[in-house]
Amino acid sequence: MGFFDRFKPKNKEAANIDPINFESVITDMHSHLLFGIDDGAVSLENSLELIEHLMSMGYKKFYTTPHIYRDLYFNSPETILPKLEIVRNAIKEKGWDIELHAAAEYFLDEHFEDLIAKKELLTIGKKYILFELNFDEEPINLKRALFNLQIDGFKPILAHPERYSYYHRQFEKFVDLADRDVFLQLNINSLSGHYGPEVKKTSERMIDAGIVSFIGTDCHHLGHINLSEMVRTNAHLKKLIESGKLLNHTL
Ligand SMILES: [Fe+2]
Repeated sequence: MGFFDRFKPKNKEAANIDPINFESVITDMHSHLLFGIDDGAVSLENSLELIEHLMSMGYKKFYTTPHIYRDLYFNSPETILPKLEIVRNAIKEKGWDIELHAAAEYFLDEHFEDLIAKKELLTIGKKYILFELNFDEEPINLKRALFNLQIDGFKPILAHPERYSYYHRQFEKFVDLADRDVFLQLNINSLSGHYGPEVKKTSERMIDAGIVSFIGTDCHHLGHINLSEMVRTNAHLKKLIESGKLLNHTL
């Protein structure tokens, strides 16, 4: 290593990469942009501010996904769809050329299983369902819920698998899920290292294994926008976008 080399940025991946434009990805399919119904945007102005930043990165279409989590955010189409209308109207007034849709990020609990049984689900595109897991341990009802979703023709998308620490030493579980037609959605911000080195490493491994089908910003607030700006020069993200494996543009 030469004398000056030690002063070069530590993150070698960031070197020589122009900031990624998300124009080719087209659609962000995981975010919390509807104000006042979960831990995402807090006001209409805040919703618009976040959307404007995401537009500036190249996104043209959004499926925003408020939490439906009975114990924390007891949302339903009745709370989500009126908020969607308000934000859509404001976008129209601004004259922004984007599409905003709403679905949900379902927490895997009994309530979700009830909704699956009743087929009362908000979908991304025609049949995709975004769901998340408990962060402490693998839920025992995972396989049952997946079976019941798939038997009804729904296409489950597991939100940010790289963030569940109990899978970090069981990478084969991701490969198994992908083999069973469970679509894996990576949070682009996981590549920043913000959620820890294990999350970053697992994200990179998923990309290298070719098992990532969707990327999402999971944007809740401006802090997440800043992280997303940081990862725009990430070599693994570039590799993933150029791999042709992503399905965001099909939504
Ligand atoms: Fe989320």
